[in-house]
Amino acid sequence: MIDVRGLIKRYGSNAVVNNISFSVAEGEIFGLLGPNGAGKTTVISILATLLHPDGGAVSISGYDVTRQANRVKPMIGFVPQDLALYPTLSAFDNLSFFARIYGFKGKALSDKVESSLDMVDLRNRAHDAVQTFSGGMKRRLNIAAGLIHDPRVLFLDEPTVAVDPQSRNFIFEHVEKLKRAGMTILYTTHYMEEAERLCDRVAIMDHGEILALDTPKKLIGLLASGLIRVKLPSDKVPVVAAGARDLPHVREASSQDDVVKIVTDDPLSTLPALIRLCDARSAAMLSLEMLEPNLETVFLHLTGKRLRE
Ligand SMILES: Nc1ncnc2c1ncn2[C@@H]1O[C@H](COP(=O)(O)OP(=O)(O)OP(=O)(O)O)[C@@H](O)[C@H]1O
Ligand SMILES: [Mg+2]
Repeated sequence: MIDVRGLIKRYGSNAVVNNISFSVAEGEIFGLLGPNGAGKTTVISILATLLHPDGGAVSISGYDVTRQANRVKPMIGFVPQDLALYPTLSAFDNLSFFARIYGFKGKALSDKVESSLDMVDLRNRAHDAVQTFSGGMKRRLNIAAGLIHDPRVLFLDEPTVAVDPQSRNFIFEHVEKLKRAGMTILYTTHYMEEAERLCDRVAIMDHGEILALDTPKKLIGLLASGLIRVKLPSDKVPVVAAGARDLPHVREASSQDDVVKIVTDDPLSTLPALIRLCDARSAAMLSLEMLEPNLETVFLHLTGKRLRE
């Protein structure tokens, strides 16, 4: 349904999207995960025909998003990261505005707007100005606006930022409902637990590149039963990394700056052995972390950075 090949976007000499490729099957929820500035919004804006790429090719249902934007637009719904709503207008008037753009008129228009308000549970606030809404209510209305023309593909850019827990759950359940109805969804977030719950496959992005792409389960499987990270004086890093490879249950040990990272099948037996190893090599541990396998830890493992610092 979505095909991205060698996509590049530059600002000046800075490639903020640097040759990325992925495809999304019909009915799939695909997650783009990454920290601030990774390039998620840039990618989604290109896919939504709002931004021109500097290289590569992107097609949706076989239509090129740059050369055939007019064929693409009716098929896609876009829920932007920055709310696209008129604050002084009511929820009803906001949705009427978007419905009119897509050619709804008269009774079909008011029926569509009312069913959309029902869908996001805002019928009882239909005639209040949007500026009186909570963050979660605005987000829900923004989603209704993106869906007003019954698109086949939906782009959701960080739909749960600044949202209360109740609206957050509502949004999750709604996304799951859309998936059951067969919609193809591209979802960006920097909350790994959301991606674990919702996405069939995820691409982990950083600095405009895809570092890993797979199902959440397979990505988490990269970490076996857990990850141990030990920070050491830099001259001790190579010797401890080498020794760690021979410790019990260790699958992989490598270094990342002044950290030795160890993937293990049994953290509880690897840990004391690691402490003995450091002791034997006179390597003073500056910090030691044991992390359970989840997408957050996968990200740390791949980039050496936490998603939210
Ligand atoms: N119009 C622009 N001019 C120059 N640089 C830009 C422009 N738009 C985005 N960038 C840069 O491109 C990079 C990627 O930005 P983008 O908004 O795509 O990231 P993101 O992954 O969506 O981040 P966030 O999680 O903060 O939303 C950033 O370094 C940003 O500063
Ligand atoms: Mg963004």
